[in-house]
Amino acid sequence: MNHSPEPFDLRRLTRRFNEKFGTQPENEPSVFHAPGRVNLIGEHTDYTGGLVFPCAIDRGNLLLIRRNDDNQFRFASTNFDLMAQLSQHEIEQTYGDSWINYPLGVIDQFRRRGITMSGLDCLYSGNVPNGAGLSSSAAIEVVTAYAINTLFDAGLTHMEIVKLAQAAENDFVGMKCGVMDQFAVTMGQANHAMMLNCETLDYRHVPLNLGENAIVLANTNQRRELNESAYNDRVAECGRALGYVQQRIDAPSLGAITEAQLETVKPIFADDHIAYQRARHVTGENARVQAAVNALENDDLQAFGELMQQSHASLRDDFEVSSKPLEALVSHALKHPGVLGARLTGAGFGGCTVNLMRRDMVDSFREDVGNAYREETGLTADFYVITPSNGVEEIRS
Ligand code: GLA
Repeated sequence: MNHSPEPFDLRRLTRRFNEKFGTQPENEPSVFHAPGRVNLIGEHTDYTGGLVFPCAIDRGNLLLIRRNDDNQFRFASTNFDLMAQLSQHEIEQTYGDSWINYPLGVIDQFRRRGITMSGLDCLYSGNVPNGAGLSSSAAIEVVTAYAINTLFDAGLTHMEIVKLAQAAENDFVGMKCGVMDQFAVTMGQANHAMMLNCETLDYRHVPLNLGENAIVLANTNQRRELNESAYNDRVAECGRALGYVQQRIDAPSLGAITEAQLETVKPIFADDHIAYQRARHVTGENARVQAAVNALENDDLQAFGELMQQSHASLRDDFEVSSKPLEALVSHALKHPGVLGARLTGAGFGGCTVNLMRRDMVDSFREDVGNAYREETGLTADFYVITPSNGVEEIRS
């Protein structure tokens, strides 16, 4: 069981940085950190202008970064072998389908805002599992954006960093994601989750008083395929659904529609049941976020857990983003006596489940669910007990 991740070893990382990019005693790298995130409820609602309820987690990405004057952009990571050295001209294009596109997308956004750079040396080191739906990519984007903003005195606010990092992913990487991940990674606060309205960007931090309970993530370790195209399909289907709704209702976004309003316009979906199903998920999920936050604030974790289950069912049946391994993890979790709620989290199609459960039963959960999961799927799950954590920050200037 991964209770808490190993702390980063800054001295060792600084040595690695110097080995890769050369020692400059008068120009030591600055250090920044951005966490990953888990979404507790409110899935596939952000790009419809709906409600989400994520928190930042105690795993993230560290960036050691230094300006240089040789017009070279160097990127390395302790997690991947690949290292790239790119000229001013080369950073304008995508770099295969590598993780380096995340920092490149961020640099591109700064350039669009008139902030040019003479060169950067960047070493990343992360302990968010990749491809697990815990926003390792948003952590890379946000830590890069925050670092550049600091090193070049660009003067962006936290909210501007959120939008810049999202735009990097939308425009450069090509994933039409909503704003949730970059928001959670930037704005996280220890021991709190955040209720965000993705249309207005109004938000509030809500204390996560879980009493004797814990948040446990279970990683399917399923290879995610078709992830990006299926995700962009969902975005398009929700756009289509909004088009139908707007034939009858003057609504700025799908997220602004209630379940009851959707029912009144149901006949216009007669020839497009898929779009209707997607809209039904979104309207139901928004109501569930509201109810879940109320439940949490009334210390009714039982109700919170039930809403997580309803969210999962809707993501499986109406939104169709679950997978066999996710179903196996959720169904075995729900058989465990310590579990109040379990659901897929993030985009789906693999990745992680989030479980609200009794802290003193975590070991038997890992044992029982891990074994049953292996038997059913042949895959080995990983488990992480997470602590809600702070957002992006400077560690060393
Ligand atoms: C991914 C996206 C987010 C959000 C979730 C689903 O994590 O990056 O913007 O849409 O999927 O809730």
